Amino acid sequence: MKATRKPRARPGREEDAPGFAARRIAADMLDGVLRRRRALDELLDSTTELATLEERDRALARALVGTVLRRLGTLRHLLWPLLERGLPPQAPRVETALLLGAAQILFLDVPDHAAVDLSVRLVQADRYAARYAGLANAVLRRLARDGKAALTPLDMPMLDTPDWLMARWTAAYGGEPAHAIAAANGVEPALDLTVKSDPEIWAAKLDGRVLPTGSVRTIAHGAVTALPGFAEGAWWVQDAAAALPVHLLGDVRGRRVADLCAAPGGKTAQLAAGGGLVTAVDRAPARMKRLGENLARLSLAAELVCADAAAWTTEQHFDAVLLDAPCSSTGTIRRHPDVPWLKSEADIAKLAGLQRRLIDRAVMLLKPGGTLVYCTCSLEPEENERIVADFLARQPSMRRAPLTAADVFGCGAFINRQGELRTLPCQLSDADSRFSGLDGFYAAKLVKG
Ligand SMILES: C[S@@+](CC[C@H](N)C(=O)[O-])C[C@H]1O[C@@H](n2cnc3c(N)ncnc32)[C@H](O)[C@@H]1O
Repeated sequence: MKATRKPRARPGREEDAPGFAARRIAADMLDGVLRRRRALDELLDSTTELATLEERDRALARALVGTVLRRLGTLRHLLWPLLERGLPPQAPRVETALLLGAAQILFLDVPDHAAVDLSVRLVQADRYAARYAGLANAVLRRLARDGKAALTPLDMPMLDTPDWLMARWTAAYGGEPAHAIAAANGVEPALDLTVKSDPEIWAAKLDGRVLPTGSVRTIAHGAVTALPGFAEGAWWVQDAAAALPVHLLGDVRGRRVADLCAAPGGKTAQLAAGGGLVTAVDRAPARMKRLGENLARLSLAAELVCADAAAWTTEQHFDAVLLDAPCSSTGTIRRHPDVPWLKSEADIAKLAGLQRRLIDRAVMLLKPGGTLVYCTCSLEPEENERIVADFLARQPSMRRAPLTAADVFGCGAFINRQGELRTLPCQLSDADSRFSGLDGFYAAKLVKG
């Protein structure tokens, strides 16, 4: 890689330019995901500098990171041919700045000159990358000149989905559904809320709508904590699909329910709000702390146990057990666009081992006649259908209770041939694409005895 001529020197420091801080923080978070393989949620929680930004810039930093991760394949596809000598391996900030600049030029409402200028400044501000500022300037100007027309011939859902994932979804669901899943993953999802009561009233207050499944869906601007009803604990954030597994347990009023792998507690809150006597178990202390805080805000109660659910024992037996097993999360890519770039096939095999141990322990906690709901937010059969089929083969005391459309608010498309819940991100479509989709969730209802 040849060092190219630096662009015209600017007076003042890079970091003083308006909008630079949001780009620099976005670049650091992107490097965290792409180079240090950290989960985006973790980075959003631990990047304290985000709090120093104005609300508008904070939203911009998040949008920048989300857009680059959602469009990573497309952006790299368009950038690489413009880099005659490839990317300098010793200066990763060059690629990060190019991705951010290209995302703004092609997908965000940012003037091209600002997108180019701020990306060049990002390169200049990094001591390993600074000598490539001229290169970044030339590449982004070229991209801006060609404009959005460059996107027209591209199959963006294919480009933005790693081959191994597309191959798996094609094998599991067929070519067209796999493509539709990938396309749905490219759309930033709306905010879904589970309300304690009065969904129509809250939908009106939040400028949203009530979905067929009872969740309230809205397009949020600004912080969730500032929305009506947050402080008084009228609702909690939960994807419409994530709210379905608890409904499969039916009326939980006065029943003892173990919620395994419970944090941050979306399903615990549903169970407690439904009148269940809930014991919530999770092994992550920080996540359990958050679960406790969430329940306190919602004025709901549960017994909290911080333990490995694959080893946890107790004297009591439960009427129902909900096991929301840790998984590859490939059904949540709309909300977690880092997942395709962080997970691998090896993770799926490893998680399946843990899921088997957890479901074997879950059944020991159940009373005869009790109900076990096993669920994950993964699209991968090895973590779902296969776990349950193998479990039923190992556990003659358990049988599957096949689900029907009536179990899921009449949404028959959510039930697979075995009578299990299977939602896909491309379902629940709406003429307004911002209101479309839901997480890919799997759940099976299993009864003891
Ligand atoms: C999919 S999340 C659960 C989401 C939660 N049920 C909800 O509705 O908000 C999976 C959880 O499993 C927890 N976990 C992973 N392995 C575990 C284990 N062996 N025992 C208990 N919890 C575990 C993680 O800490 C994480 O909080």
